[in-house]
Formats: sequence, C-alpha cells, structure tokens
Amino acid sequence: MSTSEEARKEQPSTYFVQDRENQSEFDRLRVQDQMVTRGMGGVLPEQPDPEKLRRVLDVGCGTGGWLLEVAKEYPTIETLIGVDVSAKMLAYARSQAEEQGVGTRVEFHVMDALRMLEFPTGYFSLVNARFSVSYLRTWDWPKFVSELARVTRRGGVVRLTECGWWKGNSEVLVRLGALAWQAGFNAGHVFVKEDEDSLMERLPELLQRQGIRDIQTRDYELVLPKGTPEGESYREDVRYGFRVLLPFFHKWVGVLNDYEQLYQQMLEETARPDFVGRWRLRTVWGSAPGWQTSEHFV
Ligand SMILES: C[S@@+](CC[C@H](N)C(=O)[O-])C[C@H]1O[C@@H](n2cnc3c(N)ncnc32)[C@H](O)[C@@H]1O
Repeated sequence: MSTSEEARKEQPSTYFVQDRENQSEFDRLRVQDQMVTRGMGGVLPEQPDPEKLRRVLDVGCGTGGWLLEVAKEYPTIETLIGVDVSAKMLAYARSQAEEQGVGTRVEFHVMDALRMLEFPTGYFSLVNARFSVSYLRTWDWPKFVSELARVTRRGGVVRLTECGWWKGNSEVLVRLGALAWQAGFNAGHVFVKEDEDSLMERLPELLQRQGIRDIQTRDYELVLPKGTPEGESYREDVRYGFRVLLPFFHKWVGVLNDYEQLYQQMLEETARPDFVGRWRLRTVWGSAPGWQTSEHFV
C-alpha cells in the first residue's frame, strides 16, 4: 500500500497531539523511545524467554524503535508487526527497518487501536503497548485490553507500560507536568485528578478484568541527570513535549497567558548543571486466556 493510500486509511484520533505532520512530535518520540528502552534495561527486561516468541505485535508503535530493537536482539522471532494511526510515523519506521536490516521480518500497518485489531484471534505470542494513555480515554481501556488479549495466543503475553508525569528538580517542570495531567484528566485520559499513579495502579485490574492471568508488575524510576546522554534526551523530550502539548492544553484547560514565560523558565531550570530529571514507569504483564468474549470478564 502506498503512503498516500495509507494516509487515506488514517482515522481521526484522540491522541494528545492532533497534528500528524508535527516534526517536533516525531523527533520527541524518537528520542523518548530510546531513552525509555535504555532506562528500563532493554526491550523485554522482565520476560524470561524472549527467544521463544514467534510473533510480536506493538500497538501504537510510533516511530517503531522498540519493535526494531526487539527484532535485532532476538533474531529467532519470526514476525514483528507494529500498528499506529499515523502513516507518517510508519513510513519512517519502515525505512528504519530496511536500513537496520530487519525489513523481511518486520511489518508496519496503519490501524486504529480503538477499533478492532485486524489480526486473527490468537495470532501473537506477545502483544506490547507503551504509553497508550496518550490516546485512550479511561472508558476505552476494557475494549482495548480485550482486543490485545483476543489477538494473543493462549498463554501468550499481554504487556503494558505506562508512566507518571515528567518530574525533576525544576519547580516549573513539575508544574507543567501537573498541567499535562490536569488536561489529560479533563480530556478523559486520566483516572483520578492530580494523582499521577492512578493509571499505573489500575493496570493489573484492567488486565485481570479481561481474563489475563498471572499478572506481574515491575516499577522503574528513571533518574536522568543533565550532562549524561539520558539526561540530555529527557531535556529534549520535555523541550519538544511542552511545545506540542500546547493545543491540547488550550483545548482542555483553556488559554494560558503566562505559558510562554513558564516554558522559557522550564528550559532555564532544566539547563542548570545540577538538574536531575525523574520519571516513573510501570510495566504490567500477564498471560492471555485464549479466545473468550469479553462479556465473560466484565
Ligand atoms: C506516546 S506515543 C508512544 C509510541 C511508542 N509506543 C513508544 O513507546 O515509543 C503514542 C503513539 O500512539 C499513536 N496513536 C494515537 N492514537 C492511536 C490509535 N487510535 N491507534 C493506534 N495508534 C495510535 C500515535 O500516533 C503515537 O505514535
């Protein structure tokens, strides 16, 4: 399918960045992906036998970085598929797959994860989704998880990673992080206002309600000091992030007259030599039940 045909397949989305041509968001996701994967100690740090996986799906895969790393690290995995609502992200991901020599095993498809995933039941051995809060509203989770479970084979792994808000020893960064959560709450993405843990805490229950078993959790706190590669990536992440989020803020918390001043202050505070960024993440995973209708698990 050509890129223009794919662009026609694109659906309007609930993603917090509406402008799909926004280069800053694209650059942000590239930087963030590498920083997070490295900070978590690799692509599948908690999985005991990734070499035994046959087919892997990444939902909302963005620029495809995570999936390409999985392909390179585990050459025994036969097929790796990434889906995303943005044709632009996927065009880049495909070019990277070719460049990195994994193009024969890796595929990318435009797909809206809020609808049905266009794969057979029980097709994948592991299904991954990271930072889905960016487009799922609280009420979207049950159907989303039940679709992930449907396309995972019995005993295969459903794996979710979510996060708290951007933090560090910059007062303004913490304020902007809280603002992002407030906008997220008003837009329906965040479960409890002013509680950055509310989604991470709910993940096990969200999986368990769709029949996922043997649920396990691993927490991370990324410590990202200025001057280190990961600290510089974090500074780039927030520099792009609080630019691309502005239309979302306007829509969900109203016009912010002092925003430009806050943004500049955040850049200054995060440029101080003693700046240390902090970001909490949680991965929750479990074993899929095999084909079920979700009604059994409400
Ligand atoms: C915050 S990014 C995370 C990307 C990637 N999972 C990662 O961790 O680096 C969220 C991604 O979800 C995609 N997205 C937004 N709405 C979507 C939808 N309804 N279905 C599939 N993907 C969607 C966006 O285009 C974006 O690439």
